[in-house]
Amino acid sequence: MISDKIKDILNEQINKEFYSAYLYLSMSAYFAEMGLYGFSNWTKIQSQEEIDHGLILFEYVIDRKSQVKLCPIDAPIFDMKSPVEIFEQIYAHERSITSAIDCVAQMSEGECDLATRNFVDLYLKEQIEEEASVSKIISKLKIFGDEKASLYLLDRELSKRKYTQHSY
Ligand code: FEO
Repeated sequence: MISDKIKDILNEQINKEFYSAYLYLSMSAYFAEMGLYGFSNWTKIQSQEEIDHGLILFEYVIDRKSQVKLCPIDAPIFDMKSPVEIFEQIYAHERSITSAIDCVAQMSEGECDLATRNFVDLYLKEQIEEEASVSKIISKLKIFGDEKASLYLLDRELSKRKYTQHSY
């Protein structure tokens, strides 16, 4: 069993993960409209991974004999601009998710809930990877993205991303 405080923050995190899935899916649609199918693939796969993140939390709350509470998911909002500007928005979004996960870790320590604290390590590690991969794409876009040929090559690179299911 987990405390009410932990239950609430984990349910909030479930909502954040599903919001992230929505956000990436809407970005995927926008990139497809632009004809950037590799970028569209990358963001669509990210959306699938976010659903996994939400489902892992969902299963954890159930495994701890607590209650899942699914709240409405906000409509995704982002500025439909250039690829680099969209990836900068992605980076800012992931930084906010990292802060949210830090809060879960901090609260679970405060509540002496070591199982949840240990569980959250999966998300802390994932955030390091996500921030790093997004940051690398931003660097490439900043260095090469203004040239159409480079954008084409980067789009081709991002088209190779494959989905692998996350579980715990
Ligand atoms: Fe599930 Fe992108 O954090």
